[in-house]
Amino acid sequence: MLNFSFHAPTRIHFGRDQVRQLTSEIPAGSRVLLTSGGSSIRVNGVLEAVLAQLAHCTVIEFAGIEPNPEFETLRRAVELGRREQADWVLAVGGGSVIDGSKWIAAALDLDPAIDPWLLVGNKTRVRSARPLGVVLTLPATGAESNHVGVISRRETQDKQSFRSEHVFPRFAVLDPCFTFSLPPRQVGNGVVDAFVHTLEQYLTYPVDARVQDRMAEGILQTLIEVGPQTLAEPGNYDARANYMWAANQALFGLVGAGQPQDWASHAIGHELTALYGLDHARSLSVIVPALLQYCRADKAGKLLQYGQRVWGLAGSDAGIIDAAIAATRDFFVRMGLPVTLAEAGIDAAEAALRVEANLPRHKPQPVGEHGKLTPADCAAIVRMSV
Ligand code: NZQ
Ligand code: ZN
Repeated sequence: MLNFSFHAPTRIHFGRDQVRQLTSEIPAGSRVLLTSGGSSIRVNGVLEAVLAQLAHCTVIEFAGIEPNPEFETLRRAVELGRREQADWVLAVGGGSVIDGSKWIAAALDLDPAIDPWLLVGNKTRVRSARPLGVVLTLPATGAESNHVGVISRRETQDKQSFRSEHVFPRFAVLDPCFTFSLPPRQVGNGVVDAFVHTLEQYLTYPVDARVQDRMAEGILQTLIEVGPQTLAEPGNYDARANYMWAANQALFGLVGAGQPQDWASHAIGHELTALYGLDHARSLSVIVPALLQYCRADKAGKLLQYGQRVWGLAGSDAGIIDAAIAATRDFFVRMGLPVTLAEAGIDAAEAALRVEANLPRHKPQPVGEHGKLTPADCAAIVRMSV
């Protein structure tokens, strides 16, 4: 097992009616910048439920944070927060609202003389941030209890992450009932994103991290079970609760502690989203099967373990690896996601060239668990995703 330090300061309130915890989590008299996305929380009653718990605070609403949160939109939120002297940020939504709010919380505390874009990619240090709380409505990213944010700037085709201990949410409310209104597309996306987060931290090379391996295998098997069940039985609370907790634990930090990590499919996927507007999870579902093929020799030990323990496969080593990659692909298909760029309406040859050119602007190269996938390797993987 590799050395690690682990710190997870977010208090999680999980289950029905846990939104009531807002009353004690946010101090009386606070000026709360309540951030949200499009219209979903207005339509499904989540906003009403949240506001009912905030009578002890002054609420300043900022709506309109789009999927793949846009720098220019977030800047407007910071202007509003400054003008209204917000001393708390409360994100109500999915990964995009939460990530955007992490950036807002940090930018509110940033010296106005510093260009706030420099926060992205950690080109300037986050020294402090306003306290941030979260009410999660889309289980997928794990953003509700981690310290990473991913911000986009369409004008320059940038999509890049930043991280800081200061943007860990203080608390997160996870009520599975708040996800009942999710359309099937977002359920599929959420399950696949959480599945790939687990793979990025598990499907590398063995370091005898048995607890982490078995946690990863448990999360993967749970998602394989509850993903299709959630699609088939949209009103099933228990399926949603297990999906919500699995997605949280996938990127909570424990699965990856002491493990080598990959994240190459995310690096390539972020470029595809920045270039073509592909949903985050769909950028992963088209890349992961090709990446596993391309890296099958380096990943052989863990691919075998994955095939045997997660999918119950037996036979020759090569046969198990082939079948494990095929089963992964089939699972993405069952969740309603594309597994080729053609299905997503993207020309693979052109995408490969553009990804190869853009990747080095956003990620230290090379990538992957061995740090040996060059932009040319990533382009080859994109070309295989046909
Ligand atoms: O905007 P509204 O109207 O709220 O609609 C949203 C949005 O259109 C909708 N939605 C959310 N909750 C809903 C709902 N619709 C009905 N009922 C509900 N309860 O879902 C759509 C997508 O929302 P979004 O927040 O964009 O999805 P997701 O949670 O998948 O977040 C994706 C973003 O997170 C980043 C991605 O790159 C992408 O920018 N990631 C963040 C990570 C992190 N912070 O650790 C890691 C991930 O790998 C990922 O990169
Ligand atoms: Zn992801």
